[in-house]
Amino acid sequence: MMGSQIVAGLDIGTTKVCAIAAEVNGKGMRILGMGSASSTGLRKGLIINIDATVDAIKKAVKECETYSGTKIRSVIAGVSGSHIEGFNSAGLVGVRKKEVSFADVDHAIDSAKTVHIPLDREILHVIPTEFVLDEHEGIADPIGMSGVRLEARVHIITGAVSPIHNLVKCCEKSGLGVADIVLEPLASARATLTQEEKEFGAVLVDIGGGTTDIALFKDGFLRHVSVLGIGGAHLTNDIAIGLRISMYEAERLKKNFGAAVTGIITDDAEEIQIKHTGDKERSIPKKYLAEILQPRCEEMLTMIKEAVKECYGYELATCGIVLTGGCALLDGMDKMAEAVLGLPVRIGVPSNVTGLNARMANPMYATGVGLIAFNKTSMSNRIFLPDVVSGVFVMMKDWVKGVLQ
Ligand SMILES: Nc1ncnc2c1ncn2[C@@H]1O[C@H](COP(=O)(O)OP(=O)(O)OP(=O)(O)O)[C@@H](O)[C@H]1O
Ligand SMILES: [Mg+2]
Repeated sequence: MMGSQIVAGLDIGTTKVCAIAAEVNGKGMRILGMGSASSTGLRKGLIINIDATVDAIKKAVKECETYSGTKIRSVIAGVSGSHIEGFNSAGLVGVRKKEVSFADVDHAIDSAKTVHIPLDREILHVIPTEFVLDEHEGIADPIGMSGVRLEARVHIITGAVSPIHNLVKCCEKSGLGVADIVLEPLASARATLTQEEKEFGAVLVDIGGGTTDIALFKDGFLRHVSVLGIGGAHLTNDIAIGLRISMYEAERLKKNFGAAVTGIITDDAEEIQIKHTGDKERSIPKKYLAEILQPRCEEMLTMIKEAVKECYGYELATCGIVLTGGCALLDGMDKMAEAVLGLPVRIGVPSNVTGLNARMANPMYATGVGLIAFNKTSMSNRIFLPDVVSGVFVMMKDWVKGVLQ
């Protein structure tokens, strides 16, 4: 493997931990293998049990090593949770030599960063969205242009300090170094959004087990990110309560027979077998499940609609919504999303990476696949403009160093 490097992504989700190893060289990236283990140490994207999380990480990494024939020493880890917040800021500077230099751009971005951040929060990413040079808006790369006043408009993403410390701690306790930490919606977007969608505007909605990540892209940049504490666990819980069955059985029914909307069940008479504790079985109409799930799906999508409205998604997302995460697999979820949100919806499956197999080409693994794209080798030929991701990479890396010191 001359000139190649092994990189690994680690998605520590509320319902599963997923490790993906890839070989990276100057020509591109090839996935070598994946490992996945169910996760019980998180709630709503936050680690609440270190030992359970470490166990799941070790299992997922071991399986990934077996499949890929590699040894994983460090990972690019994803971070999410409702502690993540984003807001816009701007910084204005005078151009020193009448022609914009790297230093001018740096100063403008630094000036945009001088905002009050509470002590228990950290800036994770500062993502330039556009520059304004002497009132001329919409400039992606001002370097070399003539002007007097340069304004950097940025999107700042912050997160609470302790959840990230816990994330790093879990990786280290599992014997892994943390090469970088990347915001999960950025990783999911990387794996599922097309260049056209990022350019013309799209909202990525990743509905996982405990969290829903929302990220708006426009003109090639991330414009907004928010994380809602809702996910598939709510649906499972509703089934368990509604039918008085275990969470395990409710999860099985949801995945095998669930539907987001009653209208797609064509055969009203179709029955399914359900198991109560003590192995007592009975049959219920399949439609009952959809009747339980539909109001919760509507509620979740209404919350998502509010978040899309708040970030001006209706004005900016010309290409509509890309729905990913495990809940995108629920039968009829895309149709229901289209009806509630009133925007075109497509299911986002990881793509455009060599070595993806049928198991990985699943919305559940969008974050894991996307994470490996944030490796140094693939990023090295990018300065922070115009691709948002490299800026994130540098910022995040510096910040991680701070955390680990
Ligand atoms: N076929 C399916 N039908 C319905 N729901 C499904 C299906 N497959 C998986 N899910 C649901 O998707 C959810 C898991 O999705 P995902 O793996 O994206 O979450 P996660 O990354 O573990 O959690 P989070 O991102 O919220 O921390 C679970 O609630 C699971 O029940
Ligand atoms: Mg997830």
